[in-house]
Amino acid sequence: MQIFNNKASLNNYLSSLGSINSTIGFVPTMGALHNGHLSLLKKSLENNSVTVVSIFVNPTQFNNQEDLAKYPRTLDNDVEKVKSVSDKIVVYAPTVDDIYDGNTTSIHYNFDGLENQMEGKFRPGHFDGVGTVVKKLFEIIKPTNAYFGEKDFQQLQIVRKLTTKYKLPVTIVGCEIFRESNGLAMSSRNERLSIEDRNEASLIYKTLLTAKELFGTKTANEVSKYVINVFKNQSKFELEYFEIADEQTLKTCKRKSEIINYRAFIAVFVNNVRLIDTISL
Ligand code: PAF
Repeated sequence: MQIFNNKASLNNYLSSLGSINSTIGFVPTMGALHNGHLSLLKKSLENNSVTVVSIFVNPTQFNNQEDLAKYPRTLDNDVEKVKSVSDKIVVYAPTVDDIYDGNTTSIHYNFDGLENQMEGKFRPGHFDGVGTVVKKLFEIIKPTNAYFGEKDFQQLQIVRKLTTKYKLPVTIVGCEIFRESNGLAMSSRNERLSIEDRNEASLIYKTLLTAKELFGTKTANEVSKYVINVFKNQSKFELEYFEIADEQTLKTCKRKSEIINYRAFIAVFVNNVRLIDTISL
């Protein structure tokens, strides 16, 4: 299995493979891999001649230093999980300096308003950090296809916008959310939950399913009130936001329109661990 921790050796290796008829599938991650990530790797393997996974906890996308410090770093374990999918997958696990060349700052982006609500509103600077690192990774790896999970749906739309704005020659593939058997969306942050909290966190998806059902007959405002009420009486949970928004523009739904596809978005703290989830309505 090929593992690189600097872009020069990764590039040497990728160039040595030759480019005739070869496509590179890329799965960017911050490690602490779970089955959701592994499903992205499998999808990439099916559709490309080479698959690269990056494992890099990107400091510029954390607006909270404690969150950055506590982010799980489990490289050896991650490499084993990648190997269990295929030992042909190329791992790129760079240092901060290899990515940022001594200047660990973000570029300030305008994503045409996609960045102003939800994650962007509650995590100022987050999408500048994501845009900065994803663009750098695309420039290093030069993927044909890049795979992103729909759990971070706002991120997925922002990466699509980044790709269009900068005419980056890569196809962005959105992949469905992987869930635990109780419905909890798979996330690296789930590792920080106790078993009891993991079980109880299924309330998030259950509430989204009910919100979806209610949205058939109720207004967005009425659905939001329902969700706020569910979490008000739960001492373990703190609802940060619940939004019903247009899937394309991510603008809040004020009045329903037949021609718009809507999606519900939620962020909840479960005993101080911040979880997000989303559902198409
Ligand atoms: O979704 C993630 O894990 C990260 O935001 C990404 C895309 C790897 C960029 O650091």
